[in-house]
Amino acid sequence: MPGRKRFSFLEELKNNGWTVLDDVVESAAFLQLAHSIGAPSIGIHRYRIEHLSPTTANAAKAGTMSSQYGLGEFPLHTDTAHWPTPARYILLRSVGLSHSRSTIIASTKDLPFNPEQRHLIAQGTWLVSQVAQPFTCSVFFQPNEYAFRFDAACMRPYNSAAKRIHQHIIDTLKQSNYKEIKWSPGRVLIVDNWRMLHGRADSRETNEVRTLQRITIPWV
Ligand SMILES: [Fe+2]
Repeated sequence: MPGRKRFSFLEELKNNGWTVLDDVVESAAFLQLAHSIGAPSIGIHRYRIEHLSPTTANAAKAGTMSSQYGLGEFPLHTDTAHWPTPARYILLRSVGLSHSRSTIIASTKDLPFNPEQRHLIAQGTWLVSQVAQPFTCSVFFQPNEYAFRFDAACMRPYNSAAKRIHQHIIDTLKQSNYKEIKWSPGRVLIVDNWRMLHGRADSRETNEVRTLQRITIPWV
């Protein structure tokens, strides 16, 4: 990370809920960067770094964004919404060849819900069922004032408040203002997964190979 002191990106992450760093050219530097924030979780295949590439709906695991949206765009969502407490930080690094498919991010505190809608969301209970031990959860969660969990691919409305507001949340997220992060080799995006939602923009390139590495930090 030439030119960036650890202090500056941690401050940015704390203040804004996200930050971007460039020139993280090796996986080892990416992992070192993650360790400077917290302890990474061990993902599938027991690696701390996972590799993400656009996947067709048929090839994707049930309950994932890819199983619903395939190679298309992904709506704004929380990563690891199927965990009892979603992971705190998500780090993504571009290692792909083509970079037209950008990532979008939006702050959860800026979502345009009115007081009545916020009340319904707060009263709502959702079911996460496609996991070994299904559980119910809420969209707002402690301890963070803006902590917000939503992923329609794995959360189904369970009580009447959730059933009334679920589609409205989906529609609001589709229309929300977002910031677009364009990828270039070695670029890293870090998001506070409790304060920010993220998604994948659409791409006109159907045979594009976009590979991102992901590190998940459960708790800091
Ligand atoms: Fe995601």
